[in-house]
Amino acid sequence: MSSEARKILVTSALPYANGPIHIGHLVEYIQTDIWARFQRMQGNECIYVCADDAHGTPIMLRAQAEGITPEELITRVKQEHERDFAGFHVGFDNFHSTHSEENRYYATLIYQRLKEGGHIAVRTIEQAYDPEAKMFLPDRFIKGECPNCGAKDQYGDNCEVCGATYDPTELKNPYSVVSGATPVLRESEQYFFKVGDFADMLKQWTRAGHIQPEIANKMDEWLEEGLRDWDISRNAPYWGFEIPDAPGKYFYVWMDAPIGYLASFRNWCDRTGHDFDEYWKADSETELYHFIGKDIARFHTLFFPAMLHGAGFRRPTAVWCHGFLTVDGQKMSKSRGTFISAKTYLEHLNPEYLRYYYAAKLGPGIEDIDLSLEDFQARVNSDLVGKVVNIASRCAGFIVKKFGGRLSAEWPQDDLHRAGIDTAARVAEAYEKREYGKAMREIMALADRLNQYIDEQQPWVRIKDESQQASVQDTCSIGLNGFRQLVILLKPVLPRLAAEAEAFLKLPEQQWRDLETPLLDHEINKFKPLMTRIERERIDAMIEASKEANAQEPKAASPASDEPGPDADIEPIADEIRFEDFARLDLRVARIVKAEAVEKADKLLRLTLDVGLEQRNVFAGIKSAYRPEDLEGRLTVMVANLAPRKMRFGLSEGMVLAAGPGGKDIYLLSPDEGATPGMRVK
Ligand code: MSP
Ligand code: ZN
Repeated sequence: MSSEARKILVTSALPYANGPIHIGHLVEYIQTDIWARFQRMQGNECIYVCADDAHGTPIMLRAQAEGITPEELITRVKQEHERDFAGFHVGFDNFHSTHSEENRYYATLIYQRLKEGGHIAVRTIEQAYDPEAKMFLPDRFIKGECPNCGAKDQYGDNCEVCGATYDPTELKNPYSVVSGATPVLRESEQYFFKVGDFADMLKQWTRAGHIQPEIANKMDEWLEEGLRDWDISRNAPYWGFEIPDAPGKYFYVWMDAPIGYLASFRNWCDRTGHDFDEYWKADSETELYHFIGKDIARFHTLFFPAMLHGAGFRRPTAVWCHGFLTVDGQKMSKSRGTFISAKTYLEHLNPEYLRYYYAAKLGPGIEDIDLSLEDFQARVNSDLVGKVVNIASRCAGFIVKKFGGRLSAEWPQDDLHRAGIDTAARVAEAYEKREYGKAMREIMALADRLNQYIDEQQPWVRIKDESQQASVQDTCSIGLNGFRQLVILLKPVLPRLAAEAEAFLKLPEQQWRDLETPLLDHEINKFKPLMTRIERERIDAMIEASKEANAQEPKAASPASDEPGPDADIEPIADEIRFEDFARLDLRVARIVKAEAVEKADKLLRLTLDVGLEQRNVFAGIKSAYRPEDLEGRLTVMVANLAPRKMRFGLSEGMVLAAGPGGKDIYLLSPDEGATPGMRVK
C-alpha cells in the first residue's frame, strides 16, 4: 500500500476571537479533523494547524465594552476556544493566534516582498470618520436611513428592508454605531494590494482543479468584473499590526488573518524541529489544504493565493469550501434555542454523536447541511448504538464466559473478513474525497451484514447444545473481528469510541492497515457499553439551556465582523421576531388612485392610495422601475399603521411593499384578483 508517505498540511479557518465556538463552526473543524485523522491512519504525515483570528475593529470595541484590554480579551477567548475544540476531539497539532510574533514577521515579510515587486499602491481616499470616538469607521459601523426606501437604522453598505446597496456616504442622517455621532468625511492615505496584477495567474489557477467548480464559477464573476485594488491598511486607532514603514497605519485584519496559517505552522515547526520552508517554499512538493466556509471564499481563492504567489511562497494545493449549518431547516436562532454553543452542547451530549451526524451529512460540495434534531437522535441510536456497538455486546459475553476471553485460534471462514477489506477500500476513497456521507453508508452496510450473520448463526441457541458449543467461539470471533474492522473504519470520526474499543479488545493504537489481519487466539477484556442511546430529554434540555444562555448574554453593540459577507448573493434573513411583533403590523390592500413624479427627487413617486376607509399620501422610492401612469388603478399592499414621516416634499402616511434590490429591479406586491381596498393582510 502506502508506497511513500505523503506530507500534508491542513488548516481550518481561524475563528474570530470575540465570540464562542458554536455548532455551526464545528461543521468545519469536525470536517477537517476527520480528514486529518484519516490521513494519519493511512501512515501519511498530516499536520493540522489553526489559530484565533485576533485582530480588527470588532475585537477592539468588544474589549472596550468589557473594560479590558484587547490582549486580555483574546487570551481569555483563546482558552475558551481551545477547551471547546478539545471537548469535540478536534486534534490540532497547533492552535496559535494571529496576534503573535510569527504572524507579525510573516505579515511584514509578505507586505515588503509585495511592495518590492511593485504590487502595493498608496493613495489618498475619503472615508467616514467618527469625530467623537476619533476613529475611522468601517462600513458596518455606520448606520442611517436608507437612501432608497428611507428605512431607519440601516448599515452603511446595504438596506435590510429594501435590499438596496450603496455607499456609506449615501446614507441619510448617518450615525456612528460606536458613539452615535454624525460621521464626517476625512481624507487619509491608504495602502492597496494590486491584486489585479495577478489576474492572469488567478484565472488559470482557479480553473486548474484547486477549488470546487461552484466556487470557481463564483470567482469568475469577480475576475470578469476586473479585480480592484484591495485596501489592506486601516488608520489608528486599530487593533492589529502597525505597517512598518507607515506609522499610524495598520494591516487590515483580513490581510494578516490567512497569514496566520503560516504563523501557526511556523510556531509548530519551532517547537518540534520541523522545516518550515519544506512546506511553504514556492516549489514545495508537500500538499497544503485549506478547509473554509463558502462565505470567505474570495479571501482564500483570490487574495491569499495572489499574496502568496507575489511574495514567493507556494499556493495551496486546494481550498475546500463547505456549506452552512441549519437546524431543523432554519438558520440557527437564539430565541429558538438552536444557536447552540460548543460548551452548552458538551454539558448535555456526547461530542461523538455530533461528529457522527455531521459525517453522515457531509459531502464534498458547498450545499448547506441540516441538523434535524429528530433525525440526529434516530440516526445515532440506530447506527452507532443499534448496529455497531451492538455487535460487540452480542459476541463478547460468550467469549469471556465460555472461552476464557479468547478468540478462536484458527480462522473459521473469511467471507466477512474479505467484505471488510473491500469496504475499507471504498471507505478510504470516500474519506479522501471528503465524501463522508458515502463512507458512513458503506460502513453501516457492513455492520448490517455482520448483524445479519449473527442473527442467522443464533449463538445464543447453539451455546445450549454441547455439540455445537465450540463453533459458537468461531461465530463470536467473526463478529468481534468484524466489529474491530468497523471501529477502525470509524476511527477518524469517533476517536474516543475507537480508543475505548481498543482497550476492550486489548489492542494497541490501530492504524488503517491493521484491519487486513484478523485477530486469532487473541485475548479480550470484558465488554462495557461503549456508547449509550440519546434520549430526547437531553436534546430538549440542551435547547432550553441555549435559550437561557442567549437570554443572559448582553446584546453585542457592534457587528461580529466588519466584513459584509462578500460572497453572499442573497440577503440573509433578518433576526427573527415574535408572532406578536408581526401582528402589530397593519397591512392593507390599497388601490393606487394617483401616481405622480416628485420634483427634485430622482427616486420618488407620490402615490395616493385608497385603503377603503380613507385615502393616504405615500412617497415610494420606485420611480426607477415604474412609470406613474402604469401604476394608476392597480392594487398593492401597504403598511397602514406606520407612523407618518415628514419629508421634504410633504407627509408620507405609510409605505407600499415591494421586492428587489432597487433600480430597475423593483417589484411592487399585488394581491390576487378579488381583493378589495382596505382588506387586512395577515
Ligand atoms: N476569522 C474569519 C476567518 C479567517 S481565516 C483566515 C472567520 N471567522 S468565523 O469565526 O466567522 O468563522 C470561522 C469558520 O466557521 C468559517 O470558515 C465560517 O465559514 C465557518 N462557520 C461559521 N458559522 C458557520 C455555520 N453556521 N455553518 C457552517 N460554517 C460556519 O470567518
Ligand atoms: Zn431601503
